[in-house]
Amino acid sequence: MPPISRHRALITGGSAGLGRALAAGLAAQTSRPRPGAPAGDGWDVVITGRDRARLDATAAELGPRVTAVSGDVTDAGHRDQLVEVVEGGLDLLVNNASTLGTSPLLPVQELTSAVLRHVWETNVVAPVALIRALRPFLREDAAVIDITSDAAAEHYDTWGAYAASKAALEHLTLTLAAEDPAVRWYAVDPGDLRTQMHQDAFPGEDISDRPLPETVVPAFLALIDRRPPSGRYRAAELAVLAA
Ligand SMILES: NC(=O)c1ccc[n+]([C@@H]2O[C@H](COP(=O)([O-])OP(=O)(O)OC[C@H]3O[C@@H](n4cnc5c(N)ncnc54)[C@H](OP(=O)(O)O)[C@@H]3O)[C@@H](O)[C@H]2O)c1
Repeated sequence: MPPISRHRALITGGSAGLGRALAAGLAAQTSRPRPGAPAGDGWDVVITGRDRARLDATAAELGPRVTAVSGDVTDAGHRDQLVEVVEGGLDLLVNNASTLGTSPLLPVQELTSAVLRHVWETNVVAPVALIRALRPFLREDAAVIDITSDAAAEHYDTWGAYAASKAALEHLTLTLAAEDPAVRWYAVDPGDLRTQMHQDAFPGEDISDRPLPETVVPAFLALIDRRPPSGRYRAAELAVLAA
């Protein structure tokens, strides 16, 4: 019998939306997580989120490979707790938890400094702090996926705070790729998804035509399996890898 070698992922914001779908997709993988890895292992997944009851319920639904650690990514104490949980080693970090700042979204000139700081703390400062804290525990061939948005590259009316934070996150991700090539660094735009965050961006609107987050999971799994060079990717183009 070959030794069982389970891989470990940490997904921030794993109780809903894209993070939940990714956690489910990874936890369901029973074959080798990447070419060359020992067979018969798959992924153990740590998920986070502020609403403890919802997070625990998600972990219970997704099964024994999924562990819930509740907390807010902007809280340094919570990040220390995550370090304790994964200090045995980590193969994948997904910085997915994020905020729009306000719902409805506001024009730049109506954004308070408090809103801007909150968006920055959640979408930029926290992911980088988590990377800094977890880097010593990233195993050989580890990957970091920072979830971005098409808003990072476009200038949509009222999306300024969120979009600028995603542009900053992308820039930092690709700078990390230049600084630390031992890790694969990805900024991935999942595309529009039918989630609470998307509904909050379009309050009162019917978003039922947007695809469910589960539809982009094969693209993410293909990225994790195939490990193309570090860079910015759209889930839509990764779907080709998945095909
Ligand atoms: N939906 C879209 O159309 C779309 C498009 C482009 C990019 N994205 C990106 O995709 C990612 C996921 O978005 P989503 O639409 O799946 O959102 P979602 O359905 O609202 O889920 C967000 C998840 O993050 C958690 N979370 C939020 N703030 C947190 C915090 N401060 N600390 C810890 N956990 C936190 C939430 O749980 P709690 O509330 O309990 O903390 C929840 O589990 C985000 O990075 C978003 O910017 C989404």
